[in-house]
Amino acid sequence: PTFRIATIPGDGVGREVVDAGRAVLDEAARLTGGAFALDWQELPWGSAYYGETGRMMPEDGLEVLKGFDAVYFGAVGWPGVPDHVSLWGLRLAICQGFDQWANVRPVRFHPGVTSPLRKADDTELDWVVVRENSEGEYAGLGGRNLSARTGGEVAVQSSLFTEVGCERIMRFAFDLARTRTTKKVTSVTKSNAQQYGMVLWDDVFRRVAGDYPDVETESVLVDAMAARFVLSPENLSVVVASNLNADILSDLGSALAGSLGLAASANLNPERRYPSMFEPVHGSAPDIAGTGVANPIGAILSGALMLDHLGQPAAAEAVRTAVDAVTASGTLPRDLGGTATTADVTAATVAALGET
Ligand code: NAI
Ligand code: MG
Repeated sequence: PTFRIATIPGDGVGREVVDAGRAVLDEAARLTGGAFALDWQELPWGSAYYGETGRMMPEDGLEVLKGFDAVYFGAVGWPGVPDHVSLWGLRLAICQGFDQWANVRPVRFHPGVTSPLRKADDTELDWVVVRENSEGEYAGLGGRNLSARTGGEVAVQSSLFTEVGCERIMRFAFDLARTRTTKKVTSVTKSNAQQYGMVLWDDVFRRVAGDYPDVETESVLVDAMAARFVLSPENLSVVVASNLNADILSDLGSALAGSLGLAASANLNPERRYPSMFEPVHGSAPDIAGTGVANPIGAILSGALMLDHLGQPAAAEAVRTAVDAVTASGTLPRDLGGTATTADVTAATVAALGET
């Protein structure tokens, strides 16, 4: 089949890493000898588009995207456009508009990459953070107003937790755990302080766990979990957390693996009613944008997650193997302590694909 992919490079290094990912995925497709092909259509949405039109994407943007098999996304955010405008106007608009309620963020060691966590050569780290991606702290509920009582402004930002929302992300996490060597789900909570939403979260976790007696479970407070990520990451497998908690923990996780530039993610609509979206975890990195040194690995591995989603697991695995071969060989971008450019890492990955 030919899959129709909408690419939204967005801002800053988004452009650079999306181009890198496309080159690698096209080669992976070519090497299957025609088993599948990728038909890319690029959409020029983002902060520059906002400068011209006052919107991050056209009013009918979701209608346009609906016809695609998947969305391949770079990053949004650029000085001059408030970050909450760029994020809500594009990335969150797509995630929420397409009910991409499961955000999957794998974290693992890469050969040849120094991690602050790697204690000995045989230490392994391999988790998946499963992020609730539709509600919680990013439900967008609240407002700002002048307060007659205190003077000045007051802002309210509410979290929304629904039983349906908690249950579906937890079932997703348990189903994923069943496919892994270590069948375990760790729930991240803060129910000691957040006595409504997080207590509902815990209740649903306990109930869903009852349906998966073969999967080990534990529940850990988010602050303790941050310490646990650093001090004893070995005994984690699937980590399920609310929108904000998982956002923070997965950046920590990717830094522990070596760099934010390595981290991949999938925003899934598991029912497949709408396209899913694949993007590196990092942002637009204005500090290095345009200099050609961005690490493309997070975007490339997000592309591998997209191939998994499109039913091409062999090609996806080939991409992951090629990335490992490249890091093992010492072709490392600057954020991993090397001197390879974005183009160097991309070319090396394309070459390694041919050798797998
Ligand atoms: P960031 O992820 O863009 O950058 C944080 C640090 O990591 C910077 O030092 C940057 O140079 C480095 N970095 C990021 N990606 C890298 C890569 N591929 N290779 C090498 N180094 C890399 O986060 P920051 O600085 O907090 O935000 C910058 C902009 O990105 C903001 O406008 C923010 O709103 C936006 N953002 C967008 C996201 C998205 O589109 N999903 C996610 C996070 C931030
Ligand atoms: Mg984040």
